[in-house]
Amino acid sequence: MCGIVGYIGKGVAQEVLLDGLRRLEYRGYDSAGVAFHEGHQFFMARETGRVGNLAQSIQRKCSSASLGIAHTRWATHGPVTVSNTHPHVSYDGKFIIVHNGVIENFFSLKRFLSQKKIEFTSETDSEVLCNLIAYNYSILQSDGDGFIESVRMALSKCSGAYGIAVICLDYPNTLIGARRGSPLVVGLGEDANFIASDASAFVGRAKDAVFLKDGELAILTGTDFRITTSEGQEAQAVTQPVDQISEEVDLGDFDSFMEKEIFEQPLALRNTLRGRFGDDGTTAKLGGLEGHQDELRNLDRIIFIACGTARHACMVGEYLIERLARVPVEVEHASEFRYRNSPNVGNSLVIAVSQSGETLDTLEAVREAKTKGLLTLGITNVVGSTLARETDGGVYQRVGPEIGVASTKAFSSQACLCAMLGLALGRMRDLSPVDGRSIVDALNGLPNLVSEVLQQGEQIRELAMKYANAEHLLFLGRQSLYPVALEGALKLKEISYAHAEGYPAAELKHGPIALINTECPSVFMVEGTELSAKTIANMQEVKARKGPVIAIVPQSVEIPEGSADDVFRLPDAHEVVRPILANLPLQLFAYHFARLRGLDVDKPRNLAKSVTVE
Ligand code: AGP
Ligand code: GLU
Repeated sequence: MCGIVGYIGKGVAQEVLLDGLRRLEYRGYDSAGVAFHEGHQFFMARETGRVGNLAQSIQRKCSSASLGIAHTRWATHGPVTVSNTHPHVSYDGKFIIVHNGVIENFFSLKRFLSQKKIEFTSETDSEVLCNLIAYNYSILQSDGDGFIESVRMALSKCSGAYGIAVICLDYPNTLIGARRGSPLVVGLGEDANFIASDASAFVGRAKDAVFLKDGELAILTGTDFRITTSEGQEAQAVTQPVDQISEEVDLGDFDSFMEKEIFEQPLALRNTLRGRFGDDGTTAKLGGLEGHQDELRNLDRIIFIACGTARHACMVGEYLIERLARVPVEVEHASEFRYRNSPNVGNSLVIAVSQSGETLDTLEAVREAKTKGLLTLGITNVVGSTLARETDGGVYQRVGPEIGVASTKAFSSQACLCAMLGLALGRMRDLSPVDGRSIVDALNGLPNLVSEVLQQGEQIRELAMKYANAEHLLFLGRQSLYPVALEGALKLKEISYAHAEGYPAAELKHGPIALINTECPSVFMVEGTELSAKTIANMQEVKARKGPVIAIVPQSVEIPEGSADDVFRLPDAHEVVRPILANLPLQLFAYHFARLRGLDVDKPRNLAKSVTVE
């Protein structure tokens, strides 16, 4: 992951780069650095921690340079130290690089360079690439294109993923960017050009953007640019207006983006749903799937690929789609799918789900599916993201930028879109118009029910206070509430650092019940179906072992005396929206639990919003 930004133009690079880094900080915040080309030398500043630390440290030494590159790091190779922080300078002091990704063969390249007596000052794979560029430059019969050629040669020797920006002391009017696997986009302004991991870094400064394709290089001057393939042939640049691919975001009256995004969910879901039902009110109409009606009608199976929270939303989809449409569904960890010999049988549809649309594991799994000839669709929030561009069709979530590292509103809209997909596929098959209409009504009613649940937020805050000292928690649910249990546990882990596990409620007795004691609370989601009694029995098993029980229960389900310590009530609702409603108290619980521990919920330790390494 990490965020890269580069500037070349007539203005002063410093402010542009720092501003860009702040907007890219969601991509990694272990350390940050910046470097400028100042005539005969580079000026570089690097700090561990947030971009704020870097900004403070360079306030004292302003640079007026108009060519520079910057980076916010999510460490993969080497600990979080200043020497491992990007940018990295080559051994001869001629090149300076920022890199996003992993050079998988860095070790053999490093050995090769070490044999040439080249020394290293960091433990990163990125410095190896920088030194390889410098080494190539030193052995090339340098003509006018020596810089570009050395970059191209070095990249041809690398395996793994990279998005890079690089500058050379001998070329004061050139900024080179290149990508494979990791994202990179060129921004075109009036008197300046930019390169960045995503267009938000130069929104308001660049007019148009060009997304680089895998293997491409961008060669920028302050007034011009060209794109080449990895072999050096000119490539076509497709420009898009920046204001159509990026939105500005601010916190409003909220303390954190996570809180803001939780409370935005009624509006977010209205946007997800808007205009997406058929005129007769019995089915869903998803524009991005229109061209694929025949394939959808003749499907033998759906394979969902996703990571983390997005994968939990797919698991909700698995229960709903199988029930509504009777199409077999498999949910794969994207990182596993790619390396598995999954049998390619019948007409399979791959649906990749990713809020950012940039998760490398998910993208690589999509690429693998495409090489196997499978139809691929994407569900993503980010317009113009790599996933949106590389799939055969798809649906946008329309929930607006999600900034908090812990995904909240994106989950709700992904689960909602899965329900809509189940409805659309169901209506193409056996689902009756009457059942279709009741699902449409339930989905249309969802935003109001979400508001209703969020209004009870204070009760969740009190629960979080009561259990704030717990270090181990279990989350349990059956059927479509099982993925919600997984999601509740993930949310708590990632922002509060407490240990939490999600399980199917009935699985408790097959092992995890050994963890139960007075210090280990269990959070049960009760379905409100014929299975409720069984889940309540599981709660009683925990109470019998003196474990505290929190029950999240639909209004009409009776909870026998003594089977729960605390009960949070949800409105009674149709099965297609129940998982989304049941997840809301868990989002709030994790949020309050972490805040009570004094933690930064938007930037939890070790994480990054967008995971663009494998
Ligand atoms: C969610 O809270 C996590 N931070 C993480 O699991 C995330 O959902 C995952 O990395 C996938 O991201 P994506 O939706 O952007 O692909
Ligand atoms: N592999 C590089 C490092 O560890 C880059 C990581 C990133 O993408 O932030 O520094």
